[in-house]
Amino acid sequence: MKPFTFMLVAVSLDGKISPKRRPGQPNPVGPVYINEEIMDLHNSQRAGVDGIMVGLNCILMDDSRLTLREGEGRNPTRVVLDGLAEMPPTARILGSEAPTVVAVTRDAPPRRVRALEERGARIIVSGKGRFVDLPPLMDELNRAHGIKKLMVEGGGTVHRSMIAQDLYDELHLIICPFVIGGSGSITPAGRASFWPKGRIPFYSLAQNRQIGDYIYLVYKPKE
Ligand SMILES: NC(=O)c1ccc[n+]([C@@H]2O[C@H](COP(=O)([O-])OP(=O)(O)OC[C@H]3O[C@@H](n4cnc5c(N)ncnc54)[C@H](OP(=O)(O)O)[C@@H]3O)[C@@H](O)[C@H]2O)c1
Repeated sequence: MKPFTFMLVAVSLDGKISPKRRPGQPNPVGPVYINEEIMDLHNSQRAGVDGIMVGLNCILMDDSRLTLREGEGRNPTRVVLDGLAEMPPTARILGSEAPTVVAVTRDAPPRRVRALEERGARIIVSGKGRFVDLPPLMDELNRAHGIKKLMVEGGGTVHRSMIAQDLYDELHLIICPFVIGGSGSITPAGRASFWPKGRIPFYSLAQNRQIGDYIYLVYKPKE
């Protein structure tokens, strides 16, 4: 059985989650510009889940640790989708603050997988090729790693995969009061569009909350 799973994404008024940028350059749709009240809310969402999942590009671009702020309780398990085990073994997410699961496919080179294991990563093998097979991974996160509630923080490619396979119980969006522009910027469900070939996923609004100039929205999939 899969964990209860939700997406959490901060979006600019023009629907972007990050501009095109170089690795290490800060994402304006993040703590640099987002106010403290919203960052507190983000931290409390992290504190309320057993696991946080991201895609490889989040690690390559931001080198995030995905932990709670210093001294604020038990850190959730971190999960990285990294089909071919390309994450550098020096990535900060492999630090000892919390367990880290790296989900790879059976095409991941064993030498690179071993290097991650040596840094303490727990490996789950699911599927083949670059993209991890998500439904069996989700079952395994619950069964073997005790993840009953999972928050997926990004990026756009991962959200698209999750949405395409109906794996979200809820979508949480934080609408931020600024515009970043850029046709090359990343959107919450990047890559191929759901139109015109596939069916377009629809959602019902379950909650909306204004926090200063920000809006926190929760949507649930329509039956
Ligand atoms: N505003 C926000 O709330 C927010 C939150 C988080 C992240 N972000 C931003 O989002 C950006 C990263 O997004 P992104 O779309 O470039 O990449 P991403 O979603 O972080 O990572 C996608 C990569 O993960 C790997 N992957 C393995 N299995 C996968 C699967 N089943 N489905 C999807 N991906 C899978 C693939 O790596 P390979 O193809 O290389 O093997 C894929 O290209 C960063 O700039 C980050 O700052 C914004």
